[in-house]
Amino acid sequence: MDRILIEGGHRLKGDVKISGAKNAALPILVSSLLTDGWNTYANVPDLQDVHSILHLLTTLGARVETEPGLVRINAGGLCNSEAPYELVRKMRASILVLGPLLARLKKARVSLPGGCAIGARPINLHLKGLACLGAAIELKHGYVEASADTLKGCDIYLDTPTVTGTENIIMAAVLAEGRTILRNAAREPEVESFIDVLNLMGAQIQGGGTSVISIEGVTCLHPVSTRIISDRIEAGTFMVAAAMTRGDIRLLDSQPQHLEALIQKLTLAGAHFKLDDQTVRVTGSDRITSVDIRTLPFPGFPTDMQAQFTALMSVAQGLSIVSETVFENRFIHVEELKRMGADIQLSGNAAIIKGVAELSGAPVMATDLRASASLILAGLVAKGKTEVHRVYHLDRGYEGLEEKFRGLGAAIKRVK
Ligand code: EPU
Repeated sequence: MDRILIEGGHRLKGDVKISGAKNAALPILVSSLLTDGWNTYANVPDLQDVHSILHLLTTLGARVETEPGLVRINAGGLCNSEAPYELVRKMRASILVLGPLLARLKKARVSLPGGCAIGARPINLHLKGLACLGAAIELKHGYVEASADTLKGCDIYLDTPTVTGTENIIMAAVLAEGRTILRNAAREPEVESFIDVLNLMGAQIQGGGTSVISIEGVTCLHPVSTRIISDRIEAGTFMVAAAMTRGDIRLLDSQPQHLEALIQKLTLAGAHFKLDDQTVRVTGSDRITSVDIRTLPFPGFPTDMQAQFTALMSVAQGLSIVSETVFENRFIHVEELKRMGADIQLSGNAAIIKGVAELSGAPVMATDLRASASLILAGLVAKGKTEVHRVYHLDRGYEGLEEKFRGLGAAIKRVK
């Protein structure tokens, strides 16, 4: 199994290009199921999760062509309504096919994703929304079995603003009869860009980026040619790297307006930002100040940046409290950071971090995607060598992360 080796202590400096956003690409690629004809997607990141979703779409009968950065999908041959356990267990976002399969084939059988390292991750709200649209839903043998002769617009309130739940319900509602109103919908930039793509396909959706989304059903959608937005979580990870290594990094092709909560917190921690439309320059200062954060749905501080910020606070001056309110078990990286010398106490959904002057390199284990990134960040500033194991988590969601860090002057390499 691959490992990543890091020799800490290098200031990172230079330019890095931010890749397309994984969590925008996944639902957008799935939305190709809603139409016949060739859709073309540019700026698609080369990630394990993208390979997994393309594999699933092929299994369902879609034709997929790829070249670097570009994906073409034609779902004219959509014929199979089953997403099997072997594929869904590799990637929970596979549940996104449920809505479009119901809309196009009137039935779907999709394996239940189950929990994962960061929490139980139920899909009850996806199912509640689809049932409200008229689907008959049963849970049998570990699968969701859904069917509907017709889907009819309705008024749906989500108890919590779920990202993939919002996307799933929208994909069923775009081809339903009449109007659907989705209240307390997710407002993440990935959801907004997904809605923009559906509208380009001829959908009638209003309110993307707000918590009330109105969807006027249409009879059919047409293929689209579009570009995936840049990955705010990858950009955020490099911002933390600049702050942590007292570096000076220019992020190219990034959208800072998607990261306002993080930028404000990093500024309080001592980093300096120069923003223009597509470029952000982040300069770290010698003193990293402790800052509290609390994760929340967008526009709150993103849970997908919590592990990286925790790594930063572990070398800040003073005490900070990181509260995780989105997922109930997203602190597994803490025990690994402690093995590198971090002083962190967990109390319920909070991590109480007493910054230390220095971390020390150690062998550590990645447990999920963002936890992997936090361990790499810690390794970049730790004294000596850090060895990160189970890096397949990283390959699910960061495109060429070691190469990008190496380009900025880090001593980091992958060992097969
Ligand atoms: N929730 C429910 N019921 C549901 C769905 C969600 O109670 O039916 C709860 C969850 O348990 C959680 C909260 O709602 O407490 C938010 O979960 P959400 O459904 O928004 O998460 P998701 O859609 O499964 C997406 C991203 C995650 C990201 C979260 C939160 C994709 C493919 N995944 O997951 O990304 O952490 O939103 O922003 O978009 C990552 O990229 O590392 C990652 C985990």
